[in-house]
Amino acid sequence: MTQKTALFKVMRGTVIDDQLVQKTQDFTVPYDVTTTVLQALEWIKGELDGTLTFRRSCRASICGSCGMVIDGKSRLACKTKVLDLLEGNIEKNIASVKDGLIMIAPQRNQPVLKDLVVDIEPFYQKVKDIVPFVQDGDEKETTVSKESFGQVNMVSNCIMCGACYSDCTAMVENPDFIGPAALAKAFRFVSDPREGSKTARLQELSKKNGVWDCTRCGMCIDACPKGVAPMEAIVKLRTLAMEKGVRGNKGARHAMSFKDDIATWGVLNEPFMLLKTLRFEVITQTGNALNLIKKGKIPNPFPFEHKVEGLDEVRRIYAELEKNPLDVTTKAADSGPGAG
Ligand code: SF4
Ligand code: SF4
Ligand code: FES
Repeated sequence: MTQKTALFKVMRGTVIDDQLVQKTQDFTVPYDVTTTVLQALEWIKGELDGTLTFRRSCRASICGSCGMVIDGKSRLACKTKVLDLLEGNIEKNIASVKDGLIMIAPQRNQPVLKDLVVDIEPFYQKVKDIVPFVQDGDEKETTVSKESFGQVNMVSNCIMCGACYSDCTAMVENPDFIGPAALAKAFRFVSDPREGSKTARLQELSKKNGVWDCTRCGMCIDACPKGVAPMEAIVKLRTLAMEKGVRGNKGARHAMSFKDDIATWGVLNEPFMLLKTLRFEVITQTGNALNLIKKGKIPNPFPFEHKVEGLDEVRRIYAELEKNPLDVTTKAADSGPGAG
């Protein structure tokens, strides 16, 4: 029986005089129902071109070293089957590739060293920066509930593959953003009852490049092969920080202003929200504001002139939440003031 083949387009890259020079190279690779992308790359390396460079170790979705961009999305090569890419697999959230061509590229948001190998040092450094161990301090508790263990356990599934970091949209704009994996790990320590320094951690994480720099695009949830859901952890960190009174930052002010506007008027009052968020810094936005006014894009700053339908119901929900707040560590990923 003739062996089926798949066409791979692999991004090759070499650093010459401090400049990365990249080009794609096509390879035709035999496959069957069991072949993974990693096996296909190993076949290329063994049979066609021994210079092709990529990382791998466990071949079992455990070590996190084979992270790469497969058909535009960050995935583990050892977990991704060639057949699923060619035919699509809804259960695994894999769409079929266009024209039967499997595109392979190095992870994004990290410098490429060679071919599919990126420099993971900045990614690891950010995890080190959040102090990834339980610290002593006044906030230490002695009992560990089942729920808090569940939180710790969920984030402990992280295998440091960098897929979330690679697909993070905030990272593209701001390479200094701590990033989804490190923030998820930070949540693991903040939610650990044995942690003694929770408020200090939340203060640190609420600074520039921290939790408020996330755009809540959800790409990290989609990319994570281990179900860690970093964005949910980030939203919980925001809410926990605000509950602890860490509100002296733009992100928290923006979230509070958002909540107050909806509770008061049922709609956002964007000009005032900008003022409340930026305070004196709003002056730096004068040019932008004038442009927006000229183009008629600044909404009416007096929304209370309009009667918003259902406002009483919205206020009732807010009052109910004030009386019975959600337990943020288990439920408040997409609700509550920190969700803004
Ligand atoms: S949700 Fe936030 S952390 Fe996750 S990918 Fe988007 S911007 Fe990055
Ligand atoms: S959170 Fe998920 S995607 Fe991000 S490094 Fe950990 S395992 Fe990989
Ligand atoms: S080789 Fe270890 S996760 Fe893929």
